[in-house]
Amino acid sequence: MEKYVIEGGRRLAGRVMLQSAKNSVLPLLAASILTEKRVTIREAPAIADVACMAQILRELGAKVTFSGGDVIIDSADACCHEIPSSLTRELRSSVFMLGSLLTRFKRALIAYPGGCDIGLRPIDLHLFALRRLGVNISERDGFIFCEAEKLHGAEILLDFPSVGATENILLAAVMAEGRTTLTGAAKEPEIVDLQNFLNAMGARIAGAGTDVIEIEGVKELHGVTCRPMKDRIEAGTFLIAAAACGGEIEVVGIRPENIRLLLHKLRENGCKIHTKNDKIRIESRGTLRCNRRIETMPFPGFPTDLQAQVTALNASCTGCALIVENLFETRFKYVPELQKMGADIEVKGRTAFVRGTGRLHGACVTAGDLRGGAALVIAALGAEGTSEVLDLSHIDRGYADFRAKLKKLGASIRRVSV
Ligand code: UD1
Repeated sequence: MEKYVIEGGRRLAGRVMLQSAKNSVLPLLAASILTEKRVTIREAPAIADVACMAQILRELGAKVTFSGGDVIIDSADACCHEIPSSLTRELRSSVFMLGSLLTRFKRALIAYPGGCDIGLRPIDLHLFALRRLGVNISERDGFIFCEAEKLHGAEILLDFPSVGATENILLAAVMAEGRTTLTGAAKEPEIVDLQNFLNAMGARIAGAGTDVIEIEGVKELHGVTCRPMKDRIEAGTFLIAAAACGGEIEVVGIRPENIRLLLHKLRENGCKIHTKNDKIRIESRGTLRCNRRIETMPFPGFPTDLQAQVTALNASCTGCALIVENLFETRFKYVPELQKMGADIEVKGRTAFVRGTGRLHGACVTAGDLRGGAALVIAALGAEGTSEVLDLSHIDRGYADFRAKLKKLGASIRRVSV
């Protein structure tokens, strides 16, 4: 076990080169087994979730190699349609494998997926959509068994724009017989990335980024080399850290429209934001004001994956903020840890009432999930005194070189064994 030891109160300055987006690379890895040909994903981030997904592909019989930051998948010999429960429980994204396995083998056996402990994460929409595509599904003892003699196109209407279900539908319908029309699709930029990746393999998909996606099934897919989009959640995390610590940083590689609402909220806090092409620069000086209200929503709304980080920021501003979490039931579990640092936050159901205290103080806290963990690091960086953040395994799931990148910006952060 390792922990961060953070000396708070240092201003941040410099430039951050962003990693490839975790939430894009994971579905692309799942998509890599749709062809027997070689697939290369450039600049895959060195994070635990990518390692876990690579291990899942190996269990299926694929060869997965990491070389100079790229990941190369050769699944010509893949023959297994079962994913061991130890791996699906560790990684919720393993649920995308249902779509890919069905397209490749016409059958799939997986345990109910895991991931961050942020509330119930049912997969009813995934299963509903797969049934529409001709899949028979049985569920027993925590396992899901799916089988289809033949996948066929269908009209699918999602009554909630689930990111994972949308991606799974693309993966299951890409080689189905006929046309699939998906209405009510999630519009996240990562879905556009998956569409582009599949089209580069020979798929015929249009409409990603809007709420209607059309998929014309194709007979085969070929190999591909691609460079995924950069991580908008990592970008947001660094911008919020700079706001909390004061200073001036630039994040490079992201389209500002992909985090437009965060930029608006940071301006509301009193930060100056400048955008140019794929760069965002933030200047934060003096004490910031709380945001009046932030409410998480599917894209293009405020991302739930930045909710914990903005709550940490607001806790050290002045004034009051209302943070409403609409996507996950229990995504405020990090709040008691922030309270150890002096945060004044009251949680009622899906709403957190934050009374800004101007400044937090150092404490020993424990990360309980990925983004909650990042929020604790942000709070510690901006706090007065020394903090320890324990259980880094959660943070390692999504942030590559987190410590090194923060240190380069001037933060005092060490990683030590417990
Ligand atoms: C993805 C992201 C995650 C992000 C989330 C919301 C990846 C790997 N993960 O997760 O980082 O926080 O989008 O932006 O891309 N739901 C159902 N039934 C379903 C599916 C979802 O009720 O079948 C509910 C979930 O419980 C949750 C909400 O819909 O309350 C959002 O889930 P979804 O959009 O599917 O998120 P994920 O794909 O799991």
